[in-house]
Amino acid sequence: MLAAGQGKRMKSCLPKVLHPVLGKPILRRVLDALDGLGLEHIHLVVGHMAAEVESYLAGSPPLTPFTCHRQEPQLGTGHALMQVAPALSSFAGTVVVTPADTPLITGATLAGLLESHRRKMATASLITTFVADAKSYGRIVRAENGRIVRIVEDRDASLEEKDIREINPAFYCFQWPEVESGLSSLSNDNKQGEYYLTDLIGWAVGSGQTIADSLAPDWREVAGVNSRLELSEACRLMSQRTIERLSEEAGVTVIDPLNTWIAPEVTAGRDTTIFPGCYLTGDIEIGAGAKIGPHTVIEGPASVGDGSTVVQSLIVASAIGDSCRVGPFAHLREGVVLADSVRVGNFVEVKKSEIGPCTNVSHLSYVGDATLGQGVNIGAGTITANYDHISKVKSRTVIADGASTGSNSVLVAPVTIGPEAVVAASTAVTRDVPAGALAVGRARMEIREGWAESRKRKLGGQ
Ligand code: UD1
Ligand code: CA
Repeated sequence: MLAAGQGKRMKSCLPKVLHPVLGKPILRRVLDALDGLGLEHIHLVVGHMAAEVESYLAGSPPLTPFTCHRQEPQLGTGHALMQVAPALSSFAGTVVVTPADTPLITGATLAGLLESHRRKMATASLITTFVADAKSYGRIVRAENGRIVRIVEDRDASLEEKDIREINPAFYCFQWPEVESGLSSLSNDNKQGEYYLTDLIGWAVGSGQTIADSLAPDWREVAGVNSRLELSEACRLMSQRTIERLSEEAGVTVIDPLNTWIAPEVTAGRDTTIFPGCYLTGDIEIGAGAKIGPHTVIEGPASVGDGSTVVQSLIVASAIGDSCRVGPFAHLREGVVLADSVRVGNFVEVKKSEIGPCTNVSHLSYVGDATLGQGVNIGAGTITANYDHISKVKSRTVIADGASTGSNSVLVAPVTIGPEAVVAASTAVTRDVPAGALAVGRARMEIREGWAESRKRKLGGQ
């Protein structure tokens, strides 16, 4: 995988290949496609901001064993492959070469390339595709008999060649060590002064090798990302592909596909509806008959059970059971597990907490580091005070089955509210409350009959 290029047109402090496309870096998405191929080893060529790319890979490695090779300076795609050659000195077999900036590529298309390479016993193989706008892609030059002659880069193309609509998406298979001599014979005599990998095709033709080309029927799958606009385009295409899958295979309604963003990792069940303005990324499993949105962001890993609704909310790394109602304006921050039939309502924030079945946290609450049992009712404005700012320690709150808290109560953790216990409104709970007890801690209210009238008289008398 060639990942050393600068990606100049991105105008970014982040290496191009680490820009996310619906939640995952571009490079990761290509690696995911490669991981399915059963390759022996992945050699990554890194160069521009190599340390950042290497540290990303160290934290989030592909399934296939891999090695990074530094290309310094970056003298073109041919020069990039030359950096891997020493590591292949005792290798004989097929080398798959891919760019790192094509997030939409699928394992199936790469498997098709490999299969045709093997079937035709080719020395060099490549994918080609037809596009309406050939932009800066290399053009496939064919002879009158239809055979591929060479690839010409956009900048080196004649006016006539620029009209060619069949382009090079830059996925190849090469037989090793047969192509090694071709690689070392590449020159940089071109408009960009670079060693072009694409010239290997011309070399293979010139030296009478067998070339196999396989047509990608859908150009969108091999589209490269070279600019911010192409990055948006890749996100849109990827989301569109997911929405097509969910609609046609899973029986999901996506009301407004243009205003809904769904990563390919998302699955959903029959008769689920996704309303406009949702942004769903990461591994997310949505059940059947659920309603998501409008305007809901879910960052996986997350799940939403059958028949649940999540309206205008932000859900991060949390699991929602069946028949739950979440939102509007709820924030499940991380590590939240809601059992079935739970209600988390308006302006409620929940973090690292388990909430039992049929429990309601309906309005204006913060529930952090807590375990709530079954059938609990949390009054509006109840807060778990879980954090000691001086010790930096976070403590847990436990609220057992059937207990309830009154509005505006503060539960100072660590604290346990026993089963069926009641916390009165406006109570600061600083000790455990036994089962079935009432905890009440607030200034006793007084009634002063006639007070208002007497105050008015006093003021009037001045
Ligand atoms: C390349 C192809 C072009 C093809 C297009 C498809 C060449 C000469 N041209 O052009 O025919 O249509 O891809 O997207 O190969 N890279 C390195 N080291 C370098 C230069 C690039 O590792 O010195 C890597 C980049 O990180 C990138 C890939 O190679 O992942 C392609 O490089 P890029 O500069 O994007 O090539 P294109 O101009 O798009
Ligand atoms: Ca490119």
